[in-house]
Amino acid sequence: MTLKPARPIIIDTDPGQDDAVAILLALASPELQVLAITAVAGNVPLALTTRNARILLELAGRQDIPVYAGAIRPLVRPLVTAENVHGKTGLDGPDLPEPTMPLAPGDAIDFIIRTLRERPAGSVTLCPLGPLTNIALALVRAPDIAPRIAEIVLMGGGCFEGGNITPAAEFNIFVDPHAAEVVFKSGVPITMMPLDVTHQVLTTRARIAAIRALGNRSGEVVAQMLEFFERFDVAKYQSDGGPLHDPCVIAYLLRPEIFQGRHINVEIETRSELTMGMTVADWWGVTGRAANARFIRKVDSDAFFALLCERLAQLP
Ligand code: RIB
Ligand code: CA
Repeated sequence: MTLKPARPIIIDTDPGQDDAVAILLALASPELQVLAITAVAGNVPLALTTRNARILLELAGRQDIPVYAGAIRPLVRPLVTAENVHGKTGLDGPDLPEPTMPLAPGDAIDFIIRTLRERPAGSVTLCPLGPLTNIALALVRAPDIAPRIAEIVLMGGGCFEGGNITPAAEFNIFVDPHAAEVVFKSGVPITMMPLDVTHQVLTTRARIAAIRALGNRSGEVVAQMLEFFERFDVAKYQSDGGPLHDPCVIAYLLRPEIFQGRHINVEIETRSELTMGMTVADWWGVTGRAANARFIRKVDSDAFFALLCERLAQLP
C-alpha cells in the first residue's frame, strides 16, 4: 500500500491552551508535515505566544520544527488579549519548563511568503488558529502567493452561536477584523471552524479523564491545560466542559468526513463598534454574494475526541 505523502502545513497560532492541543494533535499525525509554527499576538502578547509555541515543540520532542515570530499587534486596532481565559502566561495549568530552543531567525511573514513561493503551487495549507494578522500581512506584501495557497483552514467567526468576546464577534476575528477582511476577500479557498461547530466539542469530565488515562506526559499536560482553560467557559455557559476550538482545524485535515458545512458568503464587519469583527455568514444565500468560505456547522464530537485521544497517545 503506497502511503500518501504528508500534507505540508504552516500552523499560525497564539497559544493558548486550545492552540496547544491543536499543535500537539498535528505533531502526532503522520498525515501532516508541520513546516513551521508562526506565532501571532492574540490570547497573550507575541513574546508569550513565541515562548509557548517552543514549549509545546519541546514537550513533543520536535525541536526540529522552527518557530517564527510574526505580528506584535493587529493591522489597525490595538491588541486585545485574553489572559482572563488563558492565564497570565497563556499556557496556565501545567507547570512547564521555559523553552531552550531558540526562535528561528527572520520573521513569520517572510517565512510564509518564501515557503509559498518555493514550494509547488497548491501544496501548502495554512492553518491559522488566532487573529489573522500574519496571514493578511503576507497576502498584502506578496499578492502573488494567494493562488499558490492550497487552502486556509482557520478557527474563527460564528453565526447562529453569536460571539464570545462580544455578542456579535468571536475573539480571533474581533482582535483583527481588518486582517480577516483581507483573508476573506483574498480568493483563497477557505474552510472556517466557527463557534457554531467548536461549541459542540466540549471537554467533559469523561473526556478529560480519558486523555489523562493515556498515561503519557502529553496526556497529563493536556488534561491540566484543559482543566484550567475550561473554567471560564463552564462558568459562562454552565456547560459540562468548555469548547475545544482550535483542534477542530487539525481534526478537519485528518478526518473531514466527521464535519459538515456549506460553501457560503462570509463578510467581516470592520466599521461598526457595536458589531466589530462579526462574521456576517449568509447561510441561507439571501444576499446573492459570491461564496468565499466553507462554513462548518456540525461535527461528530465523539469521533473528534476518539481521534484526539488516539493521536495524543503517540506523543511522549
Ligand atoms: O474564540 C476562540 C479562539 O480565540 C481560539 O483560537 C482561542 O485560542 C482564542 O484564540
Ligand atoms: Ca487560538
